[in-house]
Amino acid sequence: MHFFAACPKGLEELLATELATLGGGEVKQTVAGVHFEGELDTAYRVCLWSRLASRVLMPLLKIEEISADRLYESVHAMAWETHIAANGTIAVDAHGVNDSLRNTQFTQQRVKDAIVDRLREVSGERPNIDTYTPDLRVHVLVRGSMAQIALDLSGGPLHQRGYRRNTGIAPLKENLAAAMLLRAGWPEIAANGGALVDPMCGSGTLLVEAALIAADVAPGLLRTHFGFLRWRGHQPQIWQSLLDEAEQRAANGRKSDSARYFGSDRDGGVLAAAKQNAQQAGISGFLTLHHHEVDKAHRPEGYTTGLVITNPPYGERLEDNRAAAPAYIAFGELLKREFGGWRAALITSDESLAHAVGLRADKRYALFNGALACTLYRFDVFASRPEPKPQAPLS
Ligand SMILES: C[S@@+](CC[C@H](N)C(=O)[O-])C[C@H]1O[C@@H](n2cnc3c(N)ncnc32)[C@H](O)[C@@H]1O
Repeated sequence: MHFFAACPKGLEELLATELATLGGGEVKQTVAGVHFEGELDTAYRVCLWSRLASRVLMPLLKIEEISADRLYESVHAMAWETHIAANGTIAVDAHGVNDSLRNTQFTQQRVKDAIVDRLREVSGERPNIDTYTPDLRVHVLVRGSMAQIALDLSGGPLHQRGYRRNTGIAPLKENLAAAMLLRAGWPEIAANGGALVDPMCGSGTLLVEAALIAADVAPGLLRTHFGFLRWRGHQPQIWQSLLDEAEQRAANGRKSDSARYFGSDRDGGVLAAAKQNAQQAGISGFLTLHHHEVDKAHRPEGYTTGLVITNPPYGERLEDNRAAAPAYIAFGELLKREFGGWRAALITSDESLAHAVGLRADKRYALFNGALACTLYRFDVFASRPEPKPQAPLS
């Protein structure tokens, strides 16, 4: 079977590697997504375990030379009764336009009409629309003269893991946070016993994602909704055995992880959110939070190595970026003062802010934070910490 995992731009290469690890075959990158092949259990495993994908689609039909009428007829000819009960609920998401389908709402409506008409003709009943948690979410992509109809197996964005109840002003999407951690080398650092520090942690997304990675917790384990759960082709035994395995791995991982996640922020309100989110994710026992400015942070006692990673303020407005500069300068000074020999990483959209850190990045990765083109800067903080200044002799 052929599947497509969608992701934010910039994550394709990491996602391709992840999909191959999860058992995907014929893995092929494209812009903002990766094609892969496998049995249904591979797609389920990706829905449960992918830290990077936004959605997992199962293409059902490709329509060439698309027009509004051809779209309706082709979708109407599909055996929707094999996918959904006639009195079930559906949602249709449409993306892309061309000369004959210029409006995604129109495309959505035509596809919805075709499915509803088909089911009513076959069974005498009509499905209802539920845009939040439908029994079946249908994904339509119009590109050039072609349209593709797919089932959305994820049923909603996979970055919504289910642990984040509250956030600050500019939270990272969970899959972008996971990508930052993977690019920064967190799995290897974690395996070597390193700690993780985020001195501008906001609602704690990097801390929670880091703990989920290190403790081998499947990112989808807390989700209650997936697009395949009420699909007629669903194979509950396969899904249940994947869930059982993931529960077991999470239990083992949580037993072996330790209190090595340290976050701080100048805003006490977001720290309360970080605490709640960590509780929801089941990792609050590993987390230490402090309320202070970035320059008051310290290397955590008992740890000689680890990763300092952060998502400082930045934005589209120049004046906001100017105002953020002191936080970057303070971050650089903190690294030099406390974290010699550690790895560090930060994401920003503004190169001059990255320069304000005052350390040379050894690696740079292009990423998108929403629509904003960003770079992840990775630093190996020089190994030798400056000697403490000699004390002035007492006179
Ligand atoms: C973009 S947000 C981080 C969002 C976080 N990654 C999340 O997912 O929720 C930036 C954070 O930096 C904090 N911050 C800004 N300047 C700071 C400073 N000088 N010291 C400490 N925290 C600071 C803000 O309070 C804010 O929570």
